Amino acid sequence: MSGRARYDAVAMGLHWLMAAAILGLLGAGLYMTSLRPGSPQQFQLYQIHKSVGAAVFILTLARLVWRLGHRPPPLPAAMSRAERAVAHAGHWTLYSLMVVLPLVGWAVVSTSPFNIPTLLFGTIPLPHLPLPRSINDAAKLAHTAGAWIMIVTLAGHVGAALRHHFLLRDDVLSRMLPRRKT
Ligand code: HEM
Ligand code: HEM
Repeated sequence: MSGRARYDAVAMGLHWLMAAAILGLLGAGLYMTSLRPGSPQQFQLYQIHKSVGAAVFILTLARLVWRLGHRPPPLPAAMSRAERAVAHAGHWTLYSLMVVLPLVGWAVVSTSPFNIPTLLFGTIPLPHLPLPRSINDAAKLAHTAGAWIMIVTLAGHVGAALRHHFLLRDDVLSRMLPRRKT
């Protein structure tokens, strides 16, 4: 399998770094909203969430630029047209959410009645977007709904990766993993 086309090191590095960041954002995001409003823990977690979320946004733009210039390896020949279509739709759903979720999160923060300033990683001030307060509830709903669409898509994504590896026994998972020394 070693001679087969693989993802390049940049695509792999960004995939796994961002996978860890996004899974953390989803878990910590759901947890932080359940904390006592106004508590120091909640304030801290929100600041970390906004910082990591903004970093994911910048990394997504970099990743998309890289992706345009570096095509991924072709899918296994045994995959049907329908399976290819589902794989592509899943990947582009994830890319879209990686762009849209941070922007909607920024809209939530910008229209909050509490008007809390954001200092990314404790240093970079994030200004508020010029949006009306009246959209705060809709922005919160969109951010939560988008996060749940991402969770469902990711369940399919991870399930598909495991199916390819253990049932179909093709190279779809291994070509996204660093090569093992032989
Ligand atoms: C933690 C468990 C994860 C596993 C096991 C996993 C596995 C994989 C694998 C095997 C591929 C390559 C598919 C192929 O060869 O065509 C892939 C691609 C991809 N993954 Fe993941 N992934 C995980 C998490 C994530 C997360 C959290 C995201 C972002 C929300 C993500 C977004 C993507 C995208 C957008 C691609 C498409 C890359 C491209 O071809 O442009 N993955 N993933
Ligand atoms: C890919 C990036 C992001 C993911 C996956 C994500 C995920 C989540 C999740 C799962 C929640 C909990 C939703 C709930 O319990 O209703 C949440 C809440 C929140 N997120 Fe994000 N988020 C991201 C980026 C951002 C960014 C960049 C910001 C701000 C700059 C942000 C601001 C917020 C705020 C203010 C809340 C609380 C909303 C509320 O009170 O309903 N998020 N996020």
